[in-house]
Amino acid sequence: MRQLISTADLSRADIDDLMVLADSFAEVQTRDVPKVPALRGRTVVLAFFEDSTRTRTSFDLAARRLSADVLNFSVASSATKKGESLRDTVETINAMGIDAIVVRHRSSGTPIQISRWTDAAVINAGDGWHQHPTQALLDAYTLRQRLGDIDGAKIAICGDINHSRVARSNVDLFTKMGAEVTLVGPQTLMPPDISGWPVTISHDLDSLLSEIDVMYMLRIQTERLSAGLFPTVREYRSRWGLTVQRAGELRSDAVIMHPGPMNRGVEIDPEVASEPRCVVLDQVASGIPVRMAVLYQVLGPGRFANEEAAVDRPDVEESNHSVSPTDGSVEAEPDTKQAMAMKEASCQ
Ligand code: NCD
Repeated sequence: MRQLISTADLSRADIDDLMVLADSFAEVQTRDVPKVPALRGRTVVLAFFEDSTRTRTSFDLAARRLSADVLNFSVASSATKKGESLRDTVETINAMGIDAIVVRHRSSGTPIQISRWTDAAVINAGDGWHQHPTQALLDAYTLRQRLGDIDGAKIAICGDINHSRVARSNVDLFTKMGAEVTLVGPQTLMPPDISGWPVTISHDLDSLLSEIDVMYMLRIQTERLSAGLFPTVREYRSRWGLTVQRAGELRSDAVIMHPGPMNRGVEIDPEVASEPRCVVLDQVASGIPVRMAVLYQVLGPGRFANEEAAVDRPDVEESNHSVSPTDGSVEAEPDTKQAMAMKEASCQ
């Protein structure tokens, strides 16, 4: 894997590998020093041209926990504000010798365009209505933890499907993993041509509730809505919101998801967002090991090529660790550093 622009780049085997790798990075999170030297010496640029809190901080932490150097490119103080073209900005960053660019942009297609201007690995952190592949991966990871297996799960995704890159990514990833996906919402918020999508469409949320394993609520994308797609927020909630009453119709073991940020009281009632079936915070937590896995796959020496070598080396032991007094990061002895990184990143 050299880059991650879309879930379409991922085969079923790639997804399974990322899930397994994320498990081993989740174990790293439980250590006193939750850091491994796998991407030491690599530089990751976070180029967020659109607002974000959770995705940016999640990538930031993920890269740091792999010991990469992280450069936060701030659009507010960048030369793009002075009229510099996106291409010039990318070529300038590229000339500094970076290894990966994590891109968020309001226009669909920006990450693939950027990948033509740089040799660095490009990871899409959300582009317009198009794709948000790491969100889909972290959602799948969260579901795998809750359900054990996604194969055969009945998942309903509700709300503003048309403007949602999360819906596009999740439909692709969930169905590749064997789930049955139903999209539900008002006709005005459905994509105009959905004929090729491997989904069922419904305009009746209430009739689905008792049958599904997963209720995935989407945020109303106010920043992308042209006026008039639904009458009022109140009317939207009454027909399409996951109210306390509707949540009562879901099975007791159903999983409630939302990518955040939530509009409490619109697509989801505050009481529902806080109940134990709602895994919103688990989704956030999953973001770190999943993004570590993605960064490792695009920047690391490659799990398959090196896993065996690491596992076979008897000299690679936990005792080779020491904690650096300066930055608290985990240091390995120089001769075993590479093998250590491999061992840390592979399933132990
Ligand atoms: C999503 C996004 O930005 O696409 N949020 C996120 O990444 N956590 C969903 C949204 O904004 O509705």
